[in-house]
Amino acid sequence: MSNNIVVAIDGYSSCGKSTLAKALAKKLHYIYVDSGAMYRAVALYFLRNNIDTQNHAQIEEALKNIHLNFHSRDYETHITLNGEEVSEEIRQMPVSEKVSEVSAVKEVRREMVKQQQRMGQSKNIVMDGRDIGTAVFPDAPVKIFMTADPAVRAQRRYDEIHLKNPEVTLEEIFENIAHRDYQDTTREESPLIRAHDAIILDNTDLTPDEQLQFALDKVEKLGV
Ligand code: DC
Repeated sequence: MSNNIVVAIDGYSSCGKSTLAKALAKKLHYIYVDSGAMYRAVALYFLRNNIDTQNHAQIEEALKNIHLNFHSRDYETHITLNGEEVSEEIRQMPVSEKVSEVSAVKEVRREMVKQQQRMGQSKNIVMDGRDIGTAVFPDAPVKIFMTADPAVRAQRRYDEIHLKNPEVTLEEIFENIAHRDYQDTTREESPLIRAHDAIILDNTDLTPDEQLQFALDKVEKLGV
């Protein structure tokens, strides 16, 4: 198997990128990196420390004080923020509501992209996010751009989190997804956009197994 292969998976919020990326990494024996978890951890730091996303000096200072680390166990993402495990907390609504604003900040993106590129230097890696095939690894040999019907995405997300968070409604989730789609695609810095050489995967009517097979076929076709 060749070395330093990057599989870049981008797409809208809650359309199953991480499910696919994890399954693919497992099959290929690659490392899985959830780049969204990094933006979420930064958003958590900003929330906790009242960082103003308009205040560039404060942002630069905050970024110097943020240390992120991944610990992959069974292809599940465990991320630490300054040594504290925050994997659960970054999935809660306060962070979900803040993260688009934080991930639109130029300084934040510059720093995260730098760290992500470093991770891709020495490893076979599957990374999912919004700008992986465009900004982080524009030369990735395999790029997949995922999409799905917003109502289906909201329902999946609801099914996933309502047992743990029974107070969250389907409507709130739908609105959060629509809001993030809008922010992700219209921000100035690295907006969510399909790389010209990315394969589109619409999984509205696909099971996780079917989408994995779709991606594996593409990867195998490229002889990776
Ligand atoms: O994939 P996710 O929903 O956990 O991502 C959280 C947020 O981070 C999402 O609103 C967009 C942003 N993000 C980004 O701007 N660039 C990435 N590479 C990954 C995520």
